[in-house]
Amino acid sequence: MVPSPPTASDGARARVFSGIQPSGVLHLGNLLGATLRWTEVQHQADAIFCVVDLHALTVPRPPGEIGQATLDMATDVLASGLDPEQCIFFVQSTVPQHAELAWVMQTVTAFGELSRMTQFKEKRDRAEAGDGFISAGLFTYPALMAADILLYDTTEVPVGDDQGQHVELTRDAANRFNSRYGDTFVIPQATLPLAGARVMDLQAPTNKMSKSTDTDAGIIYLSDTPAAITKKFKRAVTDSETEVRYDRAAKPGVSNLLSILGAATGRTPAAAAEGIERYGDLKVATAEAVVELLAPIQARAAELRDDPAEVRRQLARGTERATEQAADVMDRVWDRLGTLRA
Ligand code: TRP
Repeated sequence: MVPSPPTASDGARARVFSGIQPSGVLHLGNLLGATLRWTEVQHQADAIFCVVDLHALTVPRPPGEIGQATLDMATDVLASGLDPEQCIFFVQSTVPQHAELAWVMQTVTAFGELSRMTQFKEKRDRAEAGDGFISAGLFTYPALMAADILLYDTTEVPVGDDQGQHVELTRDAANRFNSRYGDTFVIPQATLPLAGARVMDLQAPTNKMSKSTDTDAGIIYLSDTPAAITKKFKRAVTDSETEVRYDRAAKPGVSNLLSILGAATGRTPAAAAEGIERYGDLKVATAEAVVELLAPIQARAAELRDDPAEVRRQLARGTERATEQAADVMDRVWDRLGTLRA
């Protein structure tokens, strides 16, 4: 007899799952929007975090490169303060249930739903403008993300607001499965970041800071030197006014600097603005705060990079613990479906 999914009354502690793509080097947007938040969450909930290498395969990669990119990302995520004693941290492809459940989720996700995903439309347009190849995986990507979340009886999914639509799709697909086959999945909820956690590109402050941008001038990488960081902030786009004020719509560049300064120093953007009169001073203060924030993380990343075997050991432990949980939920899925696998 396969047990039912847990209900809210079974345990007061939230179950949190989140994932990050192996884009190579961690940037400030990943740090303030995701991984630094994870380092807090790991003490407050049952937390499971994942480098989602299978998601990254939806766009073509040179052979072999994905493994190194995954290890590099895992190293940087650990360096930002994840403690494998406090949470489960692993690589998606090492737990085969993700690919298995992704297929099942594709069967309860509608073509129309997937067609409406904003991120798909954006990535499709980019692929069309590039080499023209749009993989089916790019289209069904949200079903894989649903599998990631549902495999762990997740109650909360901390994500950036660009991922809210995918969590909504996960909820719809999980409900659809539950009503077709019987109570199987816990229905998760997105937890969106605080205002300050949305980091925009320093050169194009209405776009999210993201590896998919053409130039690196607007992106602060964990691997940047203090001099490089200072230079990027000094060249950050502002506006033709002179007033330092938080107003995302009217002053995206200045507001982005204020929210970075606030997030890096544990304050709201508005509080960070106090006492700063000039754009030049705002840029210097923000650069200094970011250099200070990154210094200990960079030091830990350097140590871990010198010891890749230790990173792999920690990930292997994560795989073991994640597999235990995922296998239970997958058994429940096969049982409800009634395949001979059950
Ligand atoms: N799609 C997410 C992103 O691009 C990454 C991701 C994959 C994820 N699976 C997840 C996030 C599950 C939260 C939960 O940022």
